[in-house]
Amino acid sequence: MPVQIILGAQWGDEGKGKVVDMLAQHADIVARYQGGANAGHTVCIGEKQYVLHLLPSGMFHEQCTCVIGNGVVIDPNALMDEIAQLEAAGITVHGRLLISHNAHLIMPYHKQLDVIREQTGTRIGTTGRGIGPAYIDKFMRVGIRIVDLLDRDTLARKLKQNIEEKNQILTKVYGETRIDVDAIISEYQEFDKQIDEYITDTSFYLHQALRQGKRIIAEGAQGALLDVDHGTYPFVTSSNPTSGGACTGLGIPPTSVSEVIGVAKAYCTRVGEGPFPTELDDATGERLRTVGHEFGATTGRPRRCGWYDAVAMQYSSHVNGIQKLVITKLDVLNEFETVRICIGYEFHGKRLRSFPTDVATLDHITPVYEEFEGWKRSLAGATTYEELPLQARTYLEALARHTDAPLWLASVGPRRDQSIVLPS
Ligand code: GDP
Ligand code: IMO
Ligand code: MG
Repeated sequence: MPVQIILGAQWGDEGKGKVVDMLAQHADIVARYQGGANAGHTVCIGEKQYVLHLLPSGMFHEQCTCVIGNGVVIDPNALMDEIAQLEAAGITVHGRLLISHNAHLIMPYHKQLDVIREQTGTRIGTTGRGIGPAYIDKFMRVGIRIVDLLDRDTLARKLKQNIEEKNQILTKVYGETRIDVDAIISEYQEFDKQIDEYITDTSFYLHQALRQGKRIIAEGAQGALLDVDHGTYPFVTSSNPTSGGACTGLGIPPTSVSEVIGVAKAYCTRVGEGPFPTELDDATGERLRTVGHEFGATTGRPRRCGWYDAVAMQYSSHVNGIQKLVITKLDVLNEFETVRICIGYEFHGKRLRSFPTDVATLDHITPVYEEFEGWKRSLAGATTYEELPLQARTYLEALARHTDAPLWLASVGPRRDQSIVLPS
């Protein structure tokens, strides 16, 4: 069992944190492969709740080494805060965290540009964490990487070059004031001492671990429908949360991947702008939001809610190659009289054969639903699949069939033990 990829199969916030934490008890390494502090992965242990933004969700298992891969964009301030918070809560980070020397840094001007672009261009509803602008610099080949923090002169030179250009954009395009180069140089030069102990060639480390037969979990952030290539562009994030992103984001070969696990909610949510075919702008949507506590773990924004979209999920299953489907938050539907699954899209009176990723089409499709009887009882006591009410099993089976992915785990609460693994 070399590399298991665990990824979000919808628009993020599917419960990846819970699932990664749960599976990390049997893992040696948990490695994040893309995104940045735009992620908010919740892990509940007993009564305690932790929200991780950059640190992998394997932090709560002492035997796990946690890796932040080259595909992640790192805000050193956010990272240091998170490390301090975990250490204060009694979780040892020192000696258990490795950061890729090739990961790119998020700079204050990335966050500033992220916010300005949201106000002046197409509003995506970003998290404002500087993600897009940092990936722009990476692909423009002017980005500043973690390794640059270790050489003060190189860091100062690269920052000067970058800020010179950013100042032109800020003042001439957006009418903003100039950024103070020296303040940023001295702020970032201070990170070398704090971050040095964690920096390494993580791709090399993972290859060695693979050779030693270590068990590795590759943890995705966001979700497949937010993928910059395969999602609902332009209403996406700027990285590849889909399974292919795990290889590029960690520097591991596709041949090392043994399993792709897709995590989805028993319904759908989305934060920010962009098409959402099954969105419920009514009392049912409000009920899903209230019962499911659907408010962002990073920004606190209310999440848009709707029925499970099997058309989008089938697409996600095919793009990612989902071999095991995890359905979370089944318990949120406990008291619903009826529950629905979107099994098709109609566009201008015609049934579409596949998920359209272009926004113009998605905005005008009519979902076709299949309705199921609700189970109207708590799932709290259920520990095996057989103990789930027949209506819940019928719903899960239909959902997996329409998704074209084998159902593997049903989650019925935020804690590790509130999980039902299905017989294979
Ligand atoms: P992630 O970004 O995919 O890790 O998901 P988030 O942490 O942003 O959001 C998922 C939320 O649902 C968190 O508050 C979890 O504690 C919670 N959660 C996860 N699984 C379940 C479940 O099966 N039932 C309920 N009620 N809550 C869950
Ligand atoms: P986790 O890992 C849900 C969304 C934002 C916005 C779009 C682009 O917790 O599932 P960005 O800041 O990335 O440039 O914003 O992507 N988004 C998420 N939505 N969960 C996330 O992370 C998200 N990270 C980004 O709301 O629509
Ligand atoms: Mg989240």
